[in-house]
Amino acid sequence: DLLDQIKRLEELFTVPKEKLKEITDHFVNELAKGLTVEGGSIPMNPTWCMGFPDGYETGTFLALDMGGTNLRVCEINLPEEKGEFDIIQSKYRMPEELKTGNAEELWDYVADCLQQFIEYHHEGEELDELPLGFTFSYPATQDYIDHGVLQRWTKGFDIEGVEGKDVVPPFEAALKERGVPIKLTALVNDTTGTLIASAYTDTDMKIGCIFGTGCNAAYMEDCGSIPKLAHLNLNPKLPMAINCEWGAFDNEHKVLPRTPYDIIIDKESPRPGQQAFEKMIAGLYLGEIFRLVLVDLHGNQDVKIFEGQDLGKLKKAYSLDASFLSSIEEDPFENLSETQDLFQNKLGITTTKPELELIAHLTKLIGTRAARLSACGVAAICKKKNITSCHVGADGSVFNKYPHFKARGAQALREIFDWTTRKDPIEILPAEDGSGVGAALISALTLKRCKEGQ
Ligand code: BG6
Ligand code: GLC
Repeated sequence: DLLDQIKRLEELFTVPKEKLKEITDHFVNELAKGLTVEGGSIPMNPTWCMGFPDGYETGTFLALDMGGTNLRVCEINLPEEKGEFDIIQSKYRMPEELKTGNAEELWDYVADCLQQFIEYHHEGEELDELPLGFTFSYPATQDYIDHGVLQRWTKGFDIEGVEGKDVVPPFEAALKERGVPIKLTALVNDTTGTLIASAYTDTDMKIGCIFGTGCNAAYMEDCGSIPKLAHLNLNPKLPMAINCEWGAFDNEHKVLPRTPYDIIIDKESPRPGQQAFEKMIAGLYLGEIFRLVLVDLHGNQDVKIFEGQDLGKLKKAYSLDASFLSSIEEDPFENLSETQDLFQNKLGITTTKPELELIAHLTKLIGTRAARLSACGVAAICKKKNITSCHVGADGSVFNKYPHFKARGAQALREIFDWTTRKDPIEILPAEDGSGVGAALISALTLKRCKEGQ
């Protein structure tokens, strides 16, 4: 009966303490491997963001955030006062069709949004070229900071003709066509932006993480510890932010406890074989894992669930997002009336009490697994860098909105490190706005470095 199924799912989705430790240790090796000339599955991309801000960066900058859910344009002013900033911003919808359309439509749309922003906020003004930090949150190879060759699309994007190419020239061409007075200064990842923006207001921040539609982290490495850059003879003591792209951890499936559902997610995705870690924890996939389990249970002759009901809506791939699971997790277990309404109204499925209990258990298992696996990545960076105490800045819809994500992640860190102290030495905290303030700061740092001729 359903109780047996709950037990089976518990076994499938629970990641015990010893497994967390095993994953973390493998993760440490893989981080190091990604920095070697031969490389590994984690890209460990050098970002050319060389060091932390000192709090005295100044200037006015534009920031463009192309993360996945929204497209956001900001204007950030960094005044003389240490660690301060002012920001104005507009959000634009990222049309679903664009994510699987063609490159020209993408750059036209992005340039249109920037043009609209400038026209709205600077109507009739004579403008000098404004420096722009472009937060492009996908894996990119960078030989310098104002370019980036897209390695591969992630987070379900599948736009033809962009992978393997520098994204900056077509973007700048679209701006030029419209006569928009903008000069791209830095192409940054959302994790790098998060790292830098967080460190601007809290110098204990050593790692920037995103737990959102995708999942990834950045931290500061010394150039001397990046063997794949050795040929450039950089000062070994110079710091450089590394965008890990840790979503690709364990693409070779050596250590992650994948379930049959994770295997289906991967197979049906536009990039099978990629982003193994991300596909088990990021917001884009949480609802889909949940949906696949329910559809599988319903298809099993021995399991009596949703009997005689039309599952047409539930059978539609990616029809449930992480916010659906958030609502279930927020619903008190005692009566689950909100969950009952959700199933009725959104999916046309009438649920019984035992079904509701299975649904609630399953949700908790999926959300808990995501948080616990995420903690392995944070622990691995700390272990690699011998960091025993620090703050980690985190952003993204899962971190900010998914119930208990923070507490479950913190609990997993305690288990990995066997902490018994009252205060956790490593804490994951909400970050400053990385793709706004972070992108502006990185632009400011870049302009300063150029001026100094470094
Ligand atoms: C936002 C940041 O808050 O979080 C973006 O500004 C980032 O740069 C995003 O990409 C990640 O979260 P989500 O949930 O939108 O993928
Ligand atoms: C995906 C992207 C990565 C980004 C993360 C969070 O993993 O590949 O660049 O940082 O999502 O948005």
